[in-house]
Amino acid sequence: MERIRIVVVGLGHRGRHMTKLAARGFDCTDVVGVCDIDRDMWYQKQWDQDKPMAEILPEPAFFLDYQQMLEELKPDLVIVETGADIHAEFCCQALDRGIHVLSDIPVVASLAEADALWRSANASRGVIMVGANPNEAGWANALVDLHQRGLIGEPYYMEAEYIHWSEGAMSTNLTAHSEWRRHLSPIRYCTHSLGPLLRILREDLRHVSCFGTGQHCQIPGRVSRKDDMQAAQFRTESGVVVRLLRNGACRARIGHHSYRVFCTKGYFEKIAPKGGDPVKIRFNSDVLYGARQLTTLPLAEYMPHEYADNPRAIGHGGVDYAMLDKLFTALLAGSRTVPTDLREGLRMTLPGIYAEESARRNGEVMTMYYPWDAEWKTSF
Ligand SMILES: NC(=O)c1ccc[n+]([C@@H]2O[C@H](COP(=O)([O-])OP(=O)(O)OC[C@H]3O[C@@H](n4cnc5c(N)ncnc54)[C@H](O)[C@@H]3O)[C@@H](O)[C@H]2O)c1
Repeated sequence: MERIRIVVVGLGHRGRHMTKLAARGFDCTDVVGVCDIDRDMWYQKQWDQDKPMAEILPEPAFFLDYQQMLEELKPDLVIVETGADIHAEFCCQALDRGIHVLSDIPVVASLAEADALWRSANASRGVIMVGANPNEAGWANALVDLHQRGLIGEPYYMEAEYIHWSEGAMSTNLTAHSEWRRHLSPIRYCTHSLGPLLRILREDLRHVSCFGTGQHCQIPGRVSRKDDMQAAQFRTESGVVVRLLRNGACRARIGHHSYRVFCTKGYFEKIAPKGGDPVKIRFNSDVLYGARQLTTLPLAEYMPHEYADNPRAIGHGGVDYAMLDKLFTALLAGSRTVPTDLREGLRMTLPGIYAEESARRNGEVMTMYYPWDAEWKTSF
């Protein structure tokens, strides 16, 4: 393959951004088709644009029907940007036709979907990569590097929080069009938090208990009954504990992602900017000369440094570009090895599905299985 013919399904805020980036950020791509059940997403100006997508990007053909787009255009790659709870069916349909897939996260919405997607992916000549862009962040690469070099030892406790602003114009605009943003259980959106941490955890998460708070925060126009906050504790077979805090709504007015990693020979943290304080990315090490005290790493919050001089490297501080670049490079080389494959995607998605069920059961400790486990089953 010399060029990659791409289609995008789902043209919300994220889908429009990824369409532009895939089309304009690279010399090896042709975005030939786009699809949404709402034609206004393409033909009408949206809140984050000064003109409609059809004028910004005149080349792709617009489709209302996904299957028709696949049949007519026979693309090399589908980028799936439908709502966070409806990815798997689009992925399976593409993989079953031998088409490569980049699916946004969380990649599945149920155990049954995980099973179906795992089977489709294993039977397909197409490659599936999961769009875990936080995994590409410069700070996550630094964490992995410190770990691989043995400078912080092995993790025994990690924690992450993802607090999304729940008020203001951006939240209102994002939510207005988007069913899943109003209704999805916060803990299901665990992938941005677990993804980077799982990069240094050799085991899968095995047990979970989760609680939710109910509702304490008034948001104009709120319709769902989802919890304001949900807190999950995960544990691996050998006893590594991972704690995750997610919000549906809150008054904190902070954002977004913080992580702390406690290891046998050191400590690492990435603390999101708060109240005017800049991002903090720092570590200490018992075995690296001169690094026994907390040592700041001179990294931007997200930009991987190998892309820092590339003016086309945009999207969440450059991580969206890095993700696409690595996928396109693999596809052009005919490689099936991609940075975040389906197994990694399920390792970071399924814990949220079990955690939601645990919260429903008032914190019951649940054992989690994955499609590669002998005990795997598609019901709880
Ligand atoms: N990785 C990131 O940084 C990041 C950031 C934001 C969103 N996301 C992910 O991106 C995805 C999209 O997010 P969003 O905010 O754009 O959501 P959204 O709800 O605004 O957009 C989803 C779009 O999919 C369309 N759609 C639904 N069913 C369809 C169908 N059958 N055929 C074609 N189109 C259909 C909807 O009409 C809508 O326009 C989500 O999975 C979300 O988790 C990721």
